Amino acid sequence: MHEHNGVVTLVGAGPGDPDLLTVGALRALQRADVVVHDHLVCPDILALAPQATLIDVGKLPFGERTEQETINSILVREGSLGRNVVRLKGGDPFLFGRGTEEIQALHQAGVPFRVIPGVSSLNGVLGAAGVAVTARGRNRGFAVFSGAGSGDADFAQWAQAPGPAVIYMGVHKAAAIARAFMAAGRAADTPVVVVARGGGANEVIAETTLAGLPALLADAAAWTPAIIAIGVEREHAFRARPLDGKIAWAAGDWLNSEAADYARALGARPVRLEEGAQHPLARAVNAGVKASRT
Ligand SMILES: C[S@@+](CC[C@H](N)C(=O)[O-])C[C@H]1O[C@@H](n2cnc3c(N)ncnc32)[C@H](O)[C@@H]1O
Repeated sequence: MHEHNGVVTLVGAGPGDPDLLTVGALRALQRADVVVHDHLVCPDILALAPQATLIDVGKLPFGERTEQETINSILVREGSLGRNVVRLKGGDPFLFGRGTEEIQALHQAGVPFRVIPGVSSLNGVLGAAGVAVTARGRNRGFAVFSGAGSGDADFAQWAQAPGPAVIYMGVHKAAAIARAFMAAGRAADTPVVVVARGGGANEVIAETTLAGLPALLADAAAWTPAIIAIGVEREHAFRARPLDGKIAWAAGDWLNSEAADYARALGARPVRLEEGAQHPLARAVNAGVKASRT
């Protein structure tokens, strides 16, 4: 046991792709005694802390999701035991991440804490898919809101905001969101981009319109987690790349090569073969069908 107090570091893990981890996050992981993580964090990132005890609070036997109070008390307990604790959270801890509740609990218990912000789905997932939420001469702002916990009146309000809208946790509310935006005067053919499971082997990027959104996301469970951007398209320069939408199945070590980076620059998405082999897209490729994003 350590003689000094422990420290709890809330670390944003980014949206899944280890390339989007910060150097600060990497350092914190390498020094951690304990990593308390949720189910959005990918195994490649957890592998960066091989010395740490992992506590998966997405899978504790307290029901489908661990109660926030239970997570808070785990953090307080581990920190009070003098351990160097990393609380690893998907994306950024303060963007729909309940980070405020965790630091409040640590503050109340007198456990020292710090926060290392992370790349959020907003820029990490949408940006990697070629969606620029601002562009000079096009728009100087955008709205961001959560579909979870919001109702028709909230959507009607968000629809009034100028510029594009980015929606977290909106898959299950897609029909209500589309309705509210069209009722507010946004055209039925307003472009919409949906990125599901961004950064992972099973990422899907879909381009549709406001009118088409409810049908696209009708099978909501198949699209979770996803981020939705209304009123903005994937940049033409992205779509025009010769391998846009193609998946390059590769052996794991090839993914870190210059050749893989070149494939990425041409628009392809290299994916570790063993990781995605069971995915419907992989099966389609194996069956000789040309792969493209939906
Ligand atoms: C509880 S919020 C957490 C957000 C996280 N703190 C962040 O900064 O991205 C979960 C929502 O984030 C979005 N999200 C998280 N990871 C994602 C991913 N890999 N691809 C697409 N959307 C993602 C989805 O909208 C999902 O419903």
